[in-house]
Amino acid sequence: MISEEQKIEQPLDPKMIGLRPGLEGVPVAHSAICEIDGTKGELRYRGYPINELATQSSFLETTYLLIWGDLPSPQQLKDFEQEVQMHRRVSFRVRDMMKCFPATGHPMDALQSSAASLGLFYSRRAIDNPQYVYDAVVRLIAKIPTMVAAFQLIRKGQDPIQPRDDLAYSANFLYMLTEREPDPLSARIFDRCLILHAEHSLNASTFSARVTASTLTDPYAVVASAVGTLAGPLHGGANEDVIKMLKEIGRPEKASSYLDKAIANKQKIMGFGHREYRVKDPRASILQDLAEELFARFGKDEMYDVAKTLEKEAEGRLGQKGIYPNVDFYSGLVYQKLGIPRDLFTPIFAISRVAGWLAHWREQLGANRIFRPSQIYTGAKSRKWMQADERMSP
Ligand code: CMC
Repeated sequence: MISEEQKIEQPLDPKMIGLRPGLEGVPVAHSAICEIDGTKGELRYRGYPINELATQSSFLETTYLLIWGDLPSPQQLKDFEQEVQMHRRVSFRVRDMMKCFPATGHPMDALQSSAASLGLFYSRRAIDNPQYVYDAVVRLIAKIPTMVAAFQLIRKGQDPIQPRDDLAYSANFLYMLTEREPDPLSARIFDRCLILHAEHSLNASTFSARVTASTLTDPYAVVASAVGTLAGPLHGGANEDVIKMLKEIGRPEKASSYLDKAIANKQKIMGFGHREYRVKDPRASILQDLAEELFARFGKDEMYDVAKTLEKEAEGRLGQKGIYPNVDFYSGLVYQKLGIPRDLFTPIFAISRVAGWLAHWREQLGANRIFRPSQIYTGAKSRKWMQADERMSP
């Protein structure tokens, strides 16, 4: 126990001494990857509006743009797609390791462990060698989806299935997950979801990636640390909680009372709010359109009416604070319609965000300084050691 005289003075007002909890508004890097205008609700990757990328580009093309800075020429894109296709398989050792994971474990934990294990196979820490960098990018982009799909089958007691070379990136992932070739609309909508989640400036997981990168460790450790950060419910994990919340609300007419109760209890509404946006997240609007496209073709999800009513009701209560739906609000409804289990929503976010993490890894290495912030110590000053029998029980 700390006695009164051992306590040092409480720190001054945090704002006076420069403490910024959550680093809100503190720039820690120059970056040319992604630009957000949170008041206008605009998002651009390398200068290209997200809407245009989501309608015109493919996930692999967007990945190339994010990581290498410019849109690829047709030949560059073809080469990149072929390289990724050639590296989709994972070693039998990784698959065997995954078979030892508990089937009840969360797929994000399985992904973090398996992503880290890639470092055992490929780590040479030759991060200043452009070929090593290119190969690491290709391997991570290619193998992360295979590992997510493999864990899904393994936990059901089945052997993972091999990627199919005749299927493009997103169609192949859905095939490895469901053992059925997806219809083209589902594959295209899934690919567009990956584009939407690929990058979002210095969010928590990307910051984690940059901190890890700043130590000059290998890219597999960079991605594994970011996966761990993405898993939390305040970040990527919110998409799972949105579906749980919509199910709990159950019917559109209950949305209003749910909101009143949650706000009175100071409970966060999952899928709402964002550090950067004061208006509706542009990705949420696109995802809502994608959900509607899927519903028009395959039938509506009854939770969609609950979601729309919740959004409408929330506007009057939270809109004045700038709290609107974020990317996680409608993504779960899209994935659910694609037949994807709820606890794979965040691993799918990771499949996509690995592009952004790797873009930031490269950028960090281009102007590296190890991250080492300071702190304001608030603990006990010098204390006198006590033998065990002198200590009081709490
Ligand atoms: N529901 C109700 N009130 C909210 C919400 C929400 N979802 N988000 C923020 N607020 C309120 C909060 O209570 C606080 O009010 P007051 O000033 O009266 O105390 C004010 O808004 C500021 O909140 P904050 O938590 O300090 O804001 P932040 O910038 O630190 O947090 C956030 C951003 C995304 C963590 C937060 O909005 C949140 O927890 N949202 C729910 C979880 C979620 O959907 N996360 C996904 C984020 S987007 C995708 C991603 O990054 O992975």
